[in-house]
Amino acid sequence: MIKNCEIGVVGLGVMGRNFLLNIAGHGFSAAGYNRTPEKLALLKEEGKGLPVTGTGDPKEFVALLRRPRAVIILVPAGAAADSVIESLIPFLEKGDLLIDAGNSHYKDTERRAAALAAQGLFFMGAGISGGEEGARKGPSIMIGGDKNAYERVRPIFEAAAAKAGGEPCAALLGSGSSGHFVKMVHNGIEYAFMQLIAETYDFMRRGLGLDNEELSAVYSGWNKGELNSYLIEITARIFSRADEKTGKKLVDAIRDAAGQKGTGMWTTQAALELRTPVPTIDAAVAMRDLSFYETERAAAAGLFGTPAGTSDADSGEKNLARLRNALHAAMLLTYAQGMALLSAASKKRGYGLDLETVARIWRGGCIIRSAMLEDLRSAYLREPALPVLFLDPGIAKKIKDCHEDLRAIVSSAALAGLPVPAFMSALGYFDAWRSGRLPANLIQAQRDYFGAHTYERTDAKGTFHTEWEK
Ligand code: 6PG
Repeated sequence: MIKNCEIGVVGLGVMGRNFLLNIAGHGFSAAGYNRTPEKLALLKEEGKGLPVTGTGDPKEFVALLRRPRAVIILVPAGAAADSVIESLIPFLEKGDLLIDAGNSHYKDTERRAAALAAQGLFFMGAGISGGEEGARKGPSIMIGGDKNAYERVRPIFEAAAAKAGGEPCAALLGSGSSGHFVKMVHNGIEYAFMQLIAETYDFMRRGLGLDNEELSAVYSGWNKGELNSYLIEITARIFSRADEKTGKKLVDAIRDAAGQKGTGMWTTQAALELRTPVPTIDAAVAMRDLSFYETERAAAAGLFGTPAGTSDADSGEKNLARLRNALHAAMLLTYAQGMALLSAASKKRGYGLDLETVARIWRGGCIIRSAMLEDLRSAYLREPALPVLFLDPGIAKKIKDCHEDLRAIVSSAALAGLPVPAFMSALGYFDAWRSGRLPANLIQAQRDYFGAHTYERTDAKGTFHTEWEK
């Protein structure tokens, strides 16, 4: 059995095991801990030839690690993470470092960090994105917490992370719970992108009558241009995949009720608390929820009729290009929402986030990686304190080129009865920002009318109240 391991990994499910093997593949000795013997057996088998060892006993696990110890925890968020931490504490010593690399809520990370600091232990939150394959071959790693503690594990994380343009997609993004906050927003953007892509699918399938092979070809074409991204790439593959059972395309056999583990909802909740609108993420969460009301959807379809969905557009190149541009605009507007939320959180919680670094480490390994992130990165390099992403001249130019197509798609979907709430929210968000004067003056008048909440005037300083019924 290897001793003095450089790193420990708790939780040997697929993510934990793959990440451990990834680390060991870069030459770092690693010990795994899991109570289930089958998982340990898998680690032994898959880790043949690598500096890997494993145990089902927490005391033995801790004893296998070089001091001061560094332990990565990869277990389901919530009670499982708390119970693993509890099981290790009796054997740890002052100065040891625990890194929770699961999708934990950032407020849990703050609570755990405070409790462990009181015992002289370091605790960091790290978001790991890239799914099972990413964990094995190179994920994007978003870390938050103490700088000196991070230095101890930096070489391991940088080696294990994906590389983009020769740079590792891993970084200490800021203090406290910033790593988990950034990962949460990453997932919120992921939800929005998935919903937007799903809306383009519906538009092309019901609206333009494209079949699965044609859809696959369209997405694969889009993936060669400005929309180049992981999610578009896998979407193209999904439409060409045959079902082993029936021989028909698998996608048509999948129930249309979208699951979730909660990170999208957390993003929406955090945005509401920080008063930073993320309407396209909100719409994506709402649509996953709505998809589950199958009985009621069937009743509504019976009562009102299912929209035939035949869009007035034809499936010619021009319309597909319009749809592609609409998606490009909506994706940029979604990144803008996510970045604005990060910026607000950084101010409120004192994270000290550098958004250029966030864009940089999202370029590889993670689920929302895309060619657009190069543009985001350039924007934050030009102006690190950019208040709203599309005020950057480079991003503004792209949105100027695309937003009329976004408008055309939203209006033609609305006329055809195709639901595109994520597209609509992106357009509404954009139009609201550029409106100059919003109708919020009326809301102020109404508040003052029924509740004497007062209002401010455009032509004089101070607060005013009117007796509206006099
Ligand atoms: C990633 C993913 C990953 C996972 C999420 C989303 O970045 O690798 O975001 O964390 O897929 O848990 O899952 P849900 O769609 O189930 O919320």
